[in-house]
Amino acid sequence: MLKKAKILETEFGIEAMQRLDALALFSEGGEGVTRRYATKEHRQAADLIQSWMRDAGMTTRMDAVGNVIGRYEATITNAPALIIGSHQDTVRQGGKYDGAYGIVAPILCINELNNANLRFPFSIEVIAFCDEEGVRFNSTLLGSRAIAGTFDMGGLENSDAIGVTMKEALLEFGTNPDKIPGLARNPKSILAFVEIHIEQGPVLEGQNMAVGVVTAIAGGTRLSAKITGLAGHAGTVPMDSRSDALTAAAEAILTIERYCSQRSGLVGTVGKISASPGAVNVIPGEVVLTVDIRAGDDELRRKAVDDIIPEIKALCQRRGVKLTTETIHESDGCQCAPWLMDQLDAAVIASGHAKKRMMSGAGHDGMAMEHITDIGMLFIRCKGGVSHNPAEAISVEDANTGIQALLNFITNFKTQTQR
Ligand code: HGY
Ligand code: MN
Ligand code: MN
Repeated sequence: MLKKAKILETEFGIEAMQRLDALALFSEGGEGVTRRYATKEHRQAADLIQSWMRDAGMTTRMDAVGNVIGRYEATITNAPALIIGSHQDTVRQGGKYDGAYGIVAPILCINELNNANLRFPFSIEVIAFCDEEGVRFNSTLLGSRAIAGTFDMGGLENSDAIGVTMKEALLEFGTNPDKIPGLARNPKSILAFVEIHIEQGPVLEGQNMAVGVVTAIAGGTRLSAKITGLAGHAGTVPMDSRSDALTAAAEAILTIERYCSQRSGLVGTVGKISASPGAVNVIPGEVVLTVDIRAGDDELRRKAVDDIIPEIKALCQRRGVKLTTETIHESDGCQCAPWLMDQLDAAVIASGHAKKRMMSGAGHDGMAMEHITDIGMLFIRCKGGVSHNPAEAISVEDANTGIQALLNFITNFKTQTQR
């Protein structure tokens, strides 16, 4: 029997916060948490997660791409799995909860089930995906894509900021990248994929709600753009004779901001920019920047990309600089499965909270997993809607509520045999 008293307490929440604090110690340094793919910190986090999985009665392994997988067996052998998981990696100077909460929460649920000696006709797998953010190699959803069978093996040649290729990084990390294609799961072995995650936005807090069920995940396009001008002397080249790549980039950034601000449901961000040669007395000759454009409506996003690129090209031409762009990520929005949303609603209500459905503006591993199974997501409130920031925060009570709702979902899970 599960201890009903936990519904009224914050025991899960307190335990989750302690574990999240412990995981956050594996960070590359600086403010907040920086834990990139295939690094020492990834390995340390994976070891700790595996030890928690083992303690919770799961068998564990790390696969060839660097995902950690824990399996809680069913009452029958070889039963298909309900997969629950999230990502272990973070953005640079991110918070303790984005991704990590979605790993700690299901482990605590399984721990509870194991302590109560409860097993089901389906198995449960908890996956700590290796890389969702795509920070190190500019390629996102690596762990979930490997499992979904959509991993791009060409990406193994991508280099990080210091010239290490993904392949080299994985060999150094201790996995065999040649085995990644073999990670693709047979959809018949999976019943559904469910993720619990912090909201990363202000909606739940604004409505004074602790938890929400996600209806769909917005699609996104990411570009890498290079603007090439002519480096020159900051003191001698007159203002009207310059081909300044950085002032062109500034106008491009404002163009993106204006375009996206004028259309509801569309957001655009330039999150990374570098100018070279990068000296106080040199006109910038080259700028590389990233562009991230998202919308719930795929048509709106595609049209934005189609409109914005020529507009930036035109301004570059006027300024005497050259623009090249490369699409580094593109994913359409995806829908959560109604049958999973219904069961998640019921789990939220059973945990003493009102039903709330909402869209996700952020990307998640479900976007990759949706290729092989139905997906569902639960959001918990975060403070001030702040995320991708060291100040990211959740309350113990909300951490507790999310785990309780997830536990309700698991214990009442009814499979759907047909997609
Ligand atoms: O960028 C995203 O939406 C996610 O947090 N990786
Ligand atoms: Mn994130
Ligand atoms: Mn995330």
